[in-house]
Amino acid sequence: MSQSNLNQKNILILMSGSIAGYKVCSLISQLVQKNFNVKVAMSASAQKFVGFATLEGLTGHPVHTDNFEPGQAMEHIYLARWADLILVAPATANTINKMSQGVGDDLLTTIFLAHDFKKPFLLAPAMNTKMYLHPTTQKSITELKNMGVEILEAASGVLACGEVGYGRLLEPHLIYDEVITRLKEYSPGMDLTPAPSPQKLMKVLITSGGTQEPIDDVRVITNKSTGKTASIIADQFSNAGFDVTYLCAETAVRPVLNATIFTFVTYKDLDQKLNSLLPNGYDFIIHTAAVSDYSVAQPASGKIDSSKDTIEIKLIKNPKLINKIKKLSPKSQLVGFKLTSQATSSTIEAKINDLFENAQCDYVVQNDWIQVHSSQHVFNLYSKKDIQKNLSITDLSFALITLSLNKESL
Ligand SMILES: Cc1cc2nc3c(=O)[nH]c(=O)nc-3n(C[C@H](O)[C@H](O)[C@H](O)COP(=O)(O)O)c2cc1C
Repeated sequence: MSQSNLNQKNILILMSGSIAGYKVCSLISQLVQKNFNVKVAMSASAQKFVGFATLEGLTGHPVHTDNFEPGQAMEHIYLARWADLILVAPATANTINKMSQGVGDDLLTTIFLAHDFKKPFLLAPAMNTKMYLHPTTQKSITELKNMGVEILEAASGVLACGEVGYGRLLEPHLIYDEVITRLKEYSPGMDLTPAPSPQKLMKVLITSGGTQEPIDDVRVITNKSTGKTASIIADQFSNAGFDVTYLCAETAVRPVLNATIFTFVTYKDLDQKLNSLLPNGYDFIIHTAAVSDYSVAQPASGKIDSSKDTIEIKLIKNPKLINKIKKLSPKSQLVGFKLTSQATSSTIEAKINDLFENAQCDYVVQNDWIQVHSSQHVFNLYSKKDIQKNLSITDLSFALITLSLNKESL
Protein backbone atom coordinates (compact mmCIF):
# COMPACT_ATOMS: atom_id res chain seq x y z
CA MET A 1 0.00 0.00 0.00
CA SER A 2 1.34 3.44 -0.84
CA GLN A 3 2.52 6.11 1.56
CA SER A 4 -0.38 8.36 0.63
CA ASN A 5 -2.82 5.63 1.72
CA LEU A 6 -1.15 5.40 5.08
CA ASN A 7 -1.20 9.12 5.48
CA GLN A 8 -4.96 9.08 5.09
CA LYS A 9 -5.15 7.25 8.41
CA ASN A 10 -7.23 8.87 11.12
CA ILE A 11 -5.69 9.38 14.54
CA LEU A 12 -7.83 10.42 17.50
CA ILE A 13 -5.97 11.90 20.44
CA LEU A 14 -7.69 11.97 23.82
CA MET A 15 -6.07 14.58 26.07
CA SER A 16 -6.64 14.53 29.80
CA GLY A 17 -5.61 17.18 32.31
CA SER A 18 -1.84 16.96 32.84
CA ILE A 19 0.88 19.54 32.82
CA ALA A 20 2.48 17.47 30.04
CA GLY A 21 -0.28 18.57 27.62
CA TYR A 22 2.00 21.00 25.81
CA LYS A 23 4.31 18.13 24.82
CA VAL A 24 1.43 16.44 23.02
CA CYS A 25 1.14 19.57 20.84
CA SER A 26 4.59 18.76 19.52
CA LEU A 27 3.50 15.16 18.77
CA ILE A 28 0.35 16.43 16.98
CA SER A 29 2.50 18.81 14.96
CA GLN A 30 4.71 15.89 13.81
CA LEU A 31 1.70 13.77 12.85
CA VAL A 32 0.02 16.59 10.94
CA GLN A 33 3.26 17.43 9.14
CA LYS A 34 3.22 13.81 7.92
CA ASN A 35 -0.33 14.38 6.62
CA PHE A 36 -2.20 12.17 9.07
CA ASN A 37 -5.75 13.25 9.87
CA VAL A 38 -5.63 14.14 13.53
CA LYS A 39 -8.61 15.01 15.71
CA VAL A 40 -8.48 15.84 19.41
CA ALA A 41 -10.96 15.30 22.23
CA MET A 42 -10.18 16.93 25.57
CA SER A 43 -11.36 16.40 29.11
CA ALA A 44 -12.54 19.47 31.04
CA SER A 45 -9.25 19.51 32.98
CA ALA A 46 -7.14 19.25 29.82
CA GLN A 47 -8.68 22.52 28.62
CA LYS A 48 -6.97 24.28 31.53
CA PHE A 49 -3.54 23.31 30.17
CA VAL A 50 -3.78 23.72 26.37
CA GLY A 51 -6.01 26.14 24.43
CA PHE A 52 -8.46 25.22 21.68
CA ALA A 53 -6.79 27.67 19.30
CA THR A 54 -3.49 25.78 19.46
CA LEU A 55 -5.10 22.41 18.77
CA GLU A 56 -7.44 23.68 16.09
CA GLY A 57 -4.55 25.53 14.48
CA LEU A 58 -2.40 22.40 14.50
CA THR A 59 -5.02 19.87 13.37
CA GLY A 60 -7.34 22.02 11.24
CA HIS A 61 -10.30 20.43 13.07
CA PRO A 62 -12.49 21.71 15.89
CA VAL A 63 -11.67 20.22 19.27
CA HIS A 64 -14.25 17.85 20.80
CA THR A 65 -15.03 18.38 24.45
CA ASP A 66 -18.62 17.69 25.31
CA ASN A 67 -20.78 14.56 25.23
CA PHE A 68 -23.93 16.62 25.12
CA GLU A 69 -23.07 19.39 22.68
CA PRO A 70 -26.15 20.15 20.53
CA GLY A 71 -25.88 18.41 17.17
CA GLN A 72 -22.92 16.32 18.37
CA ALA A 73 -24.58 14.02 20.86
CA MET A 74 -23.38 10.87 19.07
CA GLU A 75 -19.84 12.17 18.72
CA HIS A 76 -18.37 9.48 21.00
CA ILE A 77 -19.62 6.78 18.61
CA TYR A 78 -18.66 8.64 15.42
CA LEU A 79 -15.19 9.52 16.67
CA ALA A 80 -14.50 5.96 17.87
CA ARG A 81 -15.62 4.70 14.41
CA TRP A 82 -13.68 7.40 12.56
CA ALA A 83 -10.36 6.64 14.27
CA ASP A 84 -7.91 4.09 12.89
CA LEU A 85 -5.94 4.53 16.10
CA ILE A 86 -6.81 6.13 19.42
CA LEU A 87 -4.14 7.53 21.73
CA VAL A 88 -4.74 8.88 25.23
CA ALA A 89 -1.94 11.42 25.80
CA PRO A 90 -1.31 12.71 28.31
CA ALA A 91 -3.23 10.11 30.34
CA THR A 92 -3.92 11.22 33.91
CA ALA A 93 -4.27 8.89 36.87
CA ASN A 94 -7.93 9.92 37.03
CA THR A 95 -8.70 9.01 33.41
CA ILE A 96 -6.70 5.75 33.63
CA ASN A 97 -8.57 4.70 36.77
CA LYS A 98 -11.94 5.63 35.28
CA MET A 99 -11.26 3.80 32.02
CA SER A 100 -10.20 0.63 33.83
CA GLN A 101 -13.49 0.63 35.74
CA GLY A 102 -15.70 1.25 32.72
CA VAL A 103 -16.82 4.67 33.96
CA GLY A 104 -18.24 6.73 31.10
CA ASP A 105 -18.91 10.15 32.57
CA ASP A 106 -17.19 12.35 29.98
CA LEU A 107 -16.32 12.29 26.29
CA LEU A 108 -12.93 10.58 26.75
CA THR A 109 -14.17 7.70 28.86
CA THR A 110 -17.29 7.26 26.70
CA ILE A 111 -15.12 7.04 23.57
CA PHE A 112 -13.10 4.34 25.33
CA LEU A 113 -16.28 2.37 26.03
CA ALA A 114 -17.25 2.70 22.36
CA HIS A 115 -13.82 1.54 21.14
CA ASP A 116 -13.55 -1.46 18.85
CA PHE A 117 -10.51 -3.44 20.02
CA LYS A 118 -9.86 -4.64 16.48
CA LYS A 119 -8.14 -1.25 16.18
CA PRO A 120 -5.19 -0.01 18.30
CA PHE A 121 -5.80 1.88 21.53
CA LEU A 122 -2.64 3.41 23.04
CA LEU A 123 -2.27 5.24 26.33
CA ALA A 124 0.68 7.37 27.50
CA PRO A 125 0.56 8.07 31.26
CA ALA A 126 1.86 11.36 32.64
CA MET A 127 1.85 12.01 36.34
CA ASN A 128 3.75 12.39 39.56
CA THR A 129 5.65 9.24 40.61
CA LYS A 130 3.50 8.64 43.70
CA MET A 131 0.32 8.87 41.63
CA TYR A 132 1.85 6.50 39.09
CA LEU A 133 3.00 3.94 41.65
CA HIS A 134 -0.23 4.18 43.64
CA PRO A 135 -1.72 0.66 43.89
CA THR A 136 -4.98 1.86 42.28
CA THR A 137 -3.18 3.30 39.25
CA GLN A 138 -0.93 0.25 38.90
CA LYS A 139 -3.96 -2.07 39.15
CA SER A 140 -5.80 0.00 36.53
CA ILE A 141 -2.83 -0.09 34.16
CA THR A 142 -2.66 -3.89 34.47
CA GLU A 143 -6.40 -4.19 33.86
CA LEU A 144 -6.22 -1.91 30.82
CA LYS A 145 -3.31 -3.99 29.42
CA ASN A 146 -5.44 -7.12 29.87
CA MET A 147 -8.22 -5.45 27.88
CA GLY A 148 -5.84 -4.83 24.96
CA VAL A 149 -4.78 -1.24 25.69
CA GLU A 150 -1.11 -0.64 24.88
CA ILE A 151 0.59 1.38 27.58
CA LEU A 152 3.43 3.64 26.41
CA GLU A 153 5.61 3.97 29.46
CA ALA A 154 8.69 6.12 29.87
CA ALA A 155 11.78 5.20 31.79
CA SER A 156 12.18 7.33 34.90
CA GLY A 157 13.09 11.00 34.47
CA VAL A 158 12.68 14.52 35.83
CA LEU A 159 9.00 15.31 36.37
CA ALA A 160 7.25 18.67 36.19
CA CYS A 161 6.68 18.54 39.95
CA GLY A 162 10.46 18.50 40.46
CA GLU A 163 10.67 14.85 41.54
CA VAL A 164 12.70 12.27 39.68
CA GLY A 165 11.03 8.94 39.01
CA TYR A 166 8.37 7.06 37.07
CA GLY A 167 5.32 8.69 35.53
CA ARG A 168 6.98 11.03 33.05
CA LEU A 169 5.26 11.25 29.66
CA LEU A 170 7.17 9.34 26.98
CA GLU A 171 8.97 11.86 24.73
CA PRO A 172 6.75 12.93 21.80
CA HIS A 173 9.05 11.55 19.09
CA LEU A 174 9.02 8.13 20.82
CA ILE A 175 5.20 8.22 21.03
CA TYR A 176 5.24 9.10 17.32
CA ASP A 177 7.36 6.00 16.59
CA GLU A 178 4.94 3.81 18.60
CA VAL A 179 1.94 5.22 16.73
CA ILE A 180 3.55 4.45 13.37
CA THR A 181 4.57 0.96 14.49
CA ARG A 182 1.01 0.16 15.61
CA LEU A 183 -0.52 1.51 12.40
CA LYS A 184 1.87 -0.67 10.39
CA GLU A 185 1.03 -3.73 12.50
CA TYR A 186 -2.68 -3.19 12.01
CA SER A 187 -2.25 -2.39 8.29
CA PRO A 188 0.67 -4.56 7.09
CA GLY A 189 2.62 -3.55 3.99
CA MET A 190 2.42 0.15 4.61
CA ASP A 191 5.47 2.28 4.11
CA LEU A 192 6.21 5.19 6.37
CA THR A 193 9.43 7.07 6.73
CA PRO A 194 10.10 8.10 10.33
CA ALA A 195 9.32 11.62 11.44
CA PRO A 196 12.19 14.01 11.70
CA SER A 197 13.60 14.22 15.18
CA PRO A 198 11.64 16.88 17.13
CA GLN A 199 14.90 18.75 17.67
CA LYS A 200 14.75 19.62 13.96
CA LEU A 201 11.20 20.89 14.18
CA MET A 202 11.54 24.37 15.58
CA LYS A 203 14.51 26.60 16.31
CA VAL A 204 14.35 29.10 19.14
CA LEU A 205 16.84 31.85 20.02
CA ILE A 206 16.76 33.19 23.57
CA THR A 207 18.84 36.18 24.65
CA SER A 208 19.64 36.46 28.34
CA GLY A 209 21.40 38.51 31.00
CA GLY A 210 22.69 42.08 31.00
CA THR A 211 25.26 43.95 28.92
CA GLN A 212 28.31 45.59 30.52
CA GLU A 213 29.49 48.98 29.26
CA PRO A 214 33.15 49.72 30.06
CA ILE A 215 34.02 52.99 31.83
CA ASP A 216 37.71 52.16 31.80
CA ASP A 217 39.69 48.93 31.57
CA VAL A 218 38.50 47.64 34.95
CA ARG A 219 35.08 49.22 35.60
CA VAL A 220 31.74 48.72 33.91
CA ILE A 221 28.18 50.04 33.99
CA THR A 222 25.77 47.12 34.06
CA ASN A 223 22.34 46.10 35.35
CA LYS A 224 20.92 43.51 37.73
CA SER A 225 19.62 41.05 35.14
CA THR A 226 20.59 37.50 36.16
CA GLY A 227 19.29 35.52 33.18
CA LYS A 228 17.32 33.22 35.52
CA THR A 229 13.97 33.74 33.76
CA ALA A 230 15.53 33.10 30.35
CA SER A 231 17.32 29.97 31.58
CA ILE A 232 14.03 28.48 32.83
CA ILE A 233 12.26 29.31 29.56
CA ALA A 234 15.18 27.78 27.62
CA ASP A 235 14.92 24.54 29.62
CA GLN A 236 11.16 24.31 29.04
CA PHE A 237 11.68 24.76 25.28
CA SER A 238 14.46 22.11 25.27
CA ASN A 239 12.21 19.78 27.22
CA ALA A 240 9.52 20.26 24.57
CA GLY A 241 11.98 19.16 21.87
CA PHE A 242 13.00 22.54 20.43
CA ASP A 243 16.47 23.31 19.10
CA VAL A 244 17.49 26.03 21.59
CA THR A 245 20.20 28.64 21.04
CA TYR A 246 20.98 30.66 24.17
CA LEU A 247 22.81 33.95 23.64
CA CYS A 248 23.74 35.15 27.12
CA ALA A 249 25.89 37.49 29.14
CA GLU A 250 29.02 35.76 30.40
CA THR A 251 27.72 36.04 33.95
CA ALA A 252 24.13 34.94 33.21
CA VAL A 253 22.47 31.81 34.59
CA ARG A 254 22.76 29.00 32.01
CA PRO A 255 20.10 26.43 31.12
CA VAL A 256 20.49 22.98 32.65
CA LEU A 257 19.35 21.11 29.55
CA ASN A 258 21.00 20.93 26.19
CA ALA A 259 21.29 24.28 24.36
CA THR A 260 23.80 25.87 21.99
CA ILE A 261 25.39 28.69 23.99
CA PHE A 262 26.97 31.92 22.75
CA THR A 263 28.04 34.73 25.04
CA PHE A 264 28.26 38.53 24.88
CA VAL A 265 29.73 41.23 27.09
CA THR A 266 28.94 44.72 25.76
CA TYR A 267 26.11 46.25 23.75
CA LYS A 268 28.37 46.27 20.69
CA ASP A 269 29.28 42.65 21.24
CA LEU A 270 25.61 41.61 21.51
CA ASP A 271 24.84 43.63 18.38
CA GLN A 272 27.54 41.75 16.43
CA LYS A 273 26.43 38.33 17.73
CA LEU A 274 22.83 39.06 16.71
CA ASN A 275 24.02 40.11 13.25
CA SER A 276 25.78 36.78 12.79
CA LEU A 277 23.13 34.54 14.39
CA LEU A 278 19.86 36.01 13.07
CA PRO A 279 20.31 34.84 9.45
CA ASN A 280 20.16 31.23 10.82
CA GLY A 281 16.35 31.21 10.41
CA TYR A 282 14.98 30.99 13.94
CA ASP A 283 11.27 30.22 14.18
CA PHE A 284 10.90 31.92 17.52
CA ILE A 285 13.06 34.59 19.17
CA ILE A 286 12.68 35.50 22.83
CA HIS A 287 14.65 38.64 23.61
CA THR A 288 14.95 38.83 27.38
CA ALA A 289 18.45 40.35 27.49
CA ALA A 290 18.69 43.59 29.45
CA VAL A 291 20.52 45.78 26.97
CA SER A 292 22.17 49.00 28.08
CA ASP A 293 20.34 52.07 26.80
CA TYR A 294 23.59 54.04 26.93
CA SER A 295 27.27 53.31 26.35
CA VAL A 296 30.21 55.36 27.62
CA ALA A 297 31.28 57.81 24.91
CA GLN A 298 35.00 57.29 25.41
CA PRO A 299 36.02 54.59 27.89
CA ALA A 300 39.34 55.52 29.50
CA SER A 301 42.31 53.27 29.05
CA GLY A 302 43.82 51.85 32.22
CA LYS A 303 42.08 52.75 35.49
CA ILE A 304 40.53 56.16 36.15
CA ASP A 305 42.22 57.85 39.09
CA SER A 306 39.98 57.44 42.15
CA SER A 307 41.44 60.41 44.09
CA LYS A 308 39.11 62.94 42.42
CA ASP A 309 35.93 63.91 44.33
CA THR A 310 33.80 63.98 41.20
CA ILE A 311 34.22 62.66 37.72
CA GLU A 312 32.01 63.05 34.68
CA ILE A 313 31.22 60.23 32.33
CA LYS A 314 29.52 61.03 29.06
CA LEU A 315 26.94 58.47 27.96
CA ILE A 316 25.64 58.10 24.43
CA LYS A 317 22.24 56.62 23.64
CA ASN A 318 22.31 53.20 21.96
CA PRO A 319 19.81 52.35 19.21
CA LYS A 320 17.32 49.68 20.37
CA LEU A 321 18.68 46.28 19.32
CA ILE A 322 15.21 44.75 19.40
CA ASN A 323 14.17 47.08 16.57
CA LYS A 324 16.58 45.36 14.17
CA ILE A 325 15.67 41.72 14.95
CA LYS A 326 12.64 41.53 12.63
CA LYS A 327 14.57 43.38 9.92
CA LEU A 328 17.29 40.70 10.00
CA SER A 329 14.91 37.78 10.55
CA PRO A 330 11.50 38.80 9.19
CA LYS A 331 9.95 35.32 9.28
CA SER A 332 10.65 34.76 12.98
CA GLN A 333 8.04 35.30 15.65
CA LEU A 334 9.48 37.80 18.11
CA VAL A 335 8.82 38.06 21.84
CA GLY A 336 9.98 41.27 23.51
CA PHE A 337 10.33 41.76 27.26
CA LYS A 338 9.48 45.03 28.99
CA LEU A 339 10.45 45.58 32.59
CA THR A 340 8.50 48.50 34.04
CA SER A 341 8.98 50.27 37.35
CA GLN A 342 5.68 50.90 39.17
CA ALA A 343 4.29 52.24 35.90
CA THR A 344 0.68 53.35 35.43
CA SER A 345 -1.46 51.26 33.11
CA SER A 346 -1.33 53.97 30.42
CA THR A 347 2.50 54.05 30.56
CA ILE A 348 2.63 50.25 30.32
CA GLU A 349 0.26 50.35 27.36
CA ALA A 350 2.40 52.95 25.58
CA LYS A 351 5.61 50.94 26.12
CA ILE A 352 3.99 47.75 24.88
CA ASN A 353 2.56 49.47 21.82
CA ASP A 354 6.02 50.82 21.09
CA LEU A 355 7.35 47.24 20.99
CA PHE A 356 4.51 46.12 18.73
CA GLU A 357 4.99 49.05 16.34
CA ASN A 358 8.71 49.83 16.29
CA ALA A 359 10.17 46.40 16.99
CA GLN A 360 7.37 44.51 15.18
CA CYS A 361 7.08 42.19 18.19
CA ASP A 362 4.45 39.46 17.89
CA TYR A 363 4.22 39.13 21.67
CA VAL A 364 5.37 41.22 24.61
CA VAL A 365 6.03 39.99 28.14
CA GLN A 366 5.72 42.71 30.75
CA ASN A 367 6.65 42.51 34.39
CA ASP A 368 7.25 45.12 37.03
CA TRP A 369 10.46 45.70 38.91
CA ILE A 370 8.61 45.72 42.23
CA GLN A 371 7.53 42.10 41.65
CA VAL A 372 10.86 40.76 40.41
CA HIS A 373 12.20 39.98 43.86
CA SER A 374 8.92 39.10 45.50
CA SER A 375 7.69 35.53 45.94
CA GLN A 376 4.88 36.48 43.53
CA HIS A 377 7.07 37.13 40.49
CA VAL A 378 4.48 37.15 37.73
CA PHE A 379 4.41 38.07 34.07
CA ASN A 380 1.77 39.51 31.75
CA LEU A 381 1.83 38.19 28.18
CA TYR A 382 0.42 40.50 25.49
CA SER A 383 -0.45 39.68 21.91
CA LYS A 384 -2.01 42.34 19.69
CA LYS A 385 -5.43 40.91 20.59
CA ASP A 386 -5.18 39.36 24.08
CA ILE A 387 -3.56 39.60 27.47
CA GLN A 388 -2.75 36.64 29.73
CA LYS A 389 -2.19 38.11 33.17
CA ASN A 390 -0.30 37.00 36.28
CA LEU A 391 1.47 34.04 34.70
CA SER A 392 4.08 32.17 36.73
CA ILE A 393 7.35 31.49 34.94
CA THR A 394 6.19 27.92 34.21
CA ASP A 395 2.85 29.12 32.81
CA LEU A 396 4.65 31.77 30.76
CA SER A 397 7.02 29.15 29.30
CA PHE A 398 4.13 26.87 28.34
CA ALA A 399 2.18 29.79 26.87
CA LEU A 400 5.19 30.72 24.71
CA ILE A 401 5.67 27.10 23.60
CA THR A 402 1.98 26.95 22.66
CA LEU A 403 2.22 30.22 20.69
CA SER A 404 5.35 29.08 18.87
CA LEU A 405 3.61 25.86 17.78
CA ASN A 406 0.82 27.85 16.19
CA LYS A 407 3.16 28.86 13.40
CA GLU A 408 4.65 26.47 10.87
CA SER A 409 8.36 25.78 10.94
CA LEU A 410 10.35 28.15 8.70
C1 LIG B 1 -1.09 22.08 37.73
C2 LIG B 1 -1.69 20.71 37.72
C3 LIG B 1 -1.00 19.70 37.09
C4 LIG B 1 -1.51 18.41 37.05
N1 LIG B 1 -0.79 17.45 36.42
C5 LIG B 1 -1.26 16.18 36.45
C6 LIG B 1 -0.54 15.15 35.82
O1 LIG B 1 0.52 15.36 35.21
N2 LIG B 1 -1.06 13.89 35.87
C7 LIG B 1 -2.21 13.57 36.52
O2 LIG B 1 -2.59 12.41 36.58
N3 LIG B 1 -2.94 14.56 37.11
C8 LIG B 1 -2.49 15.84 37.07
N4 LIG B 1 -3.22 16.83 37.68
C9 LIG B 1 -4.49 16.49 38.31
C10 LIG B 1 -5.59 16.30 37.26
O3 LIG B 1 -5.69 17.44 36.44
C11 LIG B 1 -6.92 16.02 37.98
O4 LIG B 1 -6.84 14.75 38.61
C12 LIG B 1 -8.09 16.07 37.03
O5 LIG B 1 -9.27 15.76 37.73
C13 LIG B 1 -7.93 15.08 35.88
O6 LIG B 1 -9.09 15.08 35.10
P1 LIG B 1 -9.16 14.32 33.70
O7 LIG B 1 -8.54 12.98 33.91
O8 LIG B 1 -10.61 14.25 33.40
O9 LIG B 1 -8.44 15.16 32.71
C14 LIG B 1 -2.74 18.12 37.69
C15 LIG B 1 -3.44 19.16 38.30
C16 LIG B 1 -2.92 20.42 38.32
C17 LIG B 1 -3.72 21.51 39.00
